[in-house]
Amino acid sequence: MKHQETIDTNCVLPSPPPRLNEPAPDFEAKTTHGVKRLEDYRGRWLILFSHPADFTPVCTTEFIAFAEAYPKFQELGCDLLGLSIDSAFAHIAWTRTIREKFGVEVPFPIIEDLSMQVAHAYGMIQPGESDTSAVRATFVIDPNGVLRAMVYYPMTNGRSVDEFLRILQALQTSDANGVATPENWQPGDKVIVPPPSTVAAAEARMNEGLECKDWFYCEKSL
Ligand code: BEZ
Repeated sequence: MKHQETIDTNCVLPSPPPRLNEPAPDFEAKTTHGVKRLEDYRGRWLILFSHPADFTPVCTTEFIAFAEAYPKFQELGCDLLGLSIDSAFAHIAWTRTIREKFGVEVPFPIIEDLSMQVAHAYGMIQPGESDTSAVRATFVIDPNGVLRAMVYYPMTNGRSVDEFLRILQALQTSDANGVATPENWQPGDKVIVPPPSTVAAAEARMNEGLECKDWFYCEKSL
């Protein structure tokens, strides 16, 4: 782990919290598909997500949804990587149970993070929720290894996998077109043209063939 820097035998500096638009914390971790490193995902998008524990009901619903959406993530050039503070044996047993009881194959790897190294690096351990389990944290990492979006949910409430598909497509659209996207933007919807930053640009804006409500609020179709 690059961010846990040992300065003497008794003192380990805590990891800085992950920050948007900075390199995602580096890792090398044992998973259900062998050892994976952050660098293995260079050139592809990655959604790294943690869950509190294997063999728990809310996590099972999330895993089923991630597994069912996996082909869509793959079409968008995005890999999935799960994590919890459980052993690889527990992950294997749980995914086999999901296959047996729900008929769903979990096709992506899951990190065994018994040391909590990856969890700490990503701020997945939130003592207000638990000292020993990860919260429901989700990180969208771009093909350059930069952290582009993150959310933290509590133990009790499951995430919406559709929202991660949506934000992934929104980020890809922003990158490709230099635009922003409005609340609950869906592919095909109009996009927001970033506001002008000079008086002259604000003046010109109204005559650029955009759909403007005002100088600061212009949309266009892609
Ligand atoms: C669950 O996934 O069902 C769960 C996990 C931890 C705490 C509460 C619920």
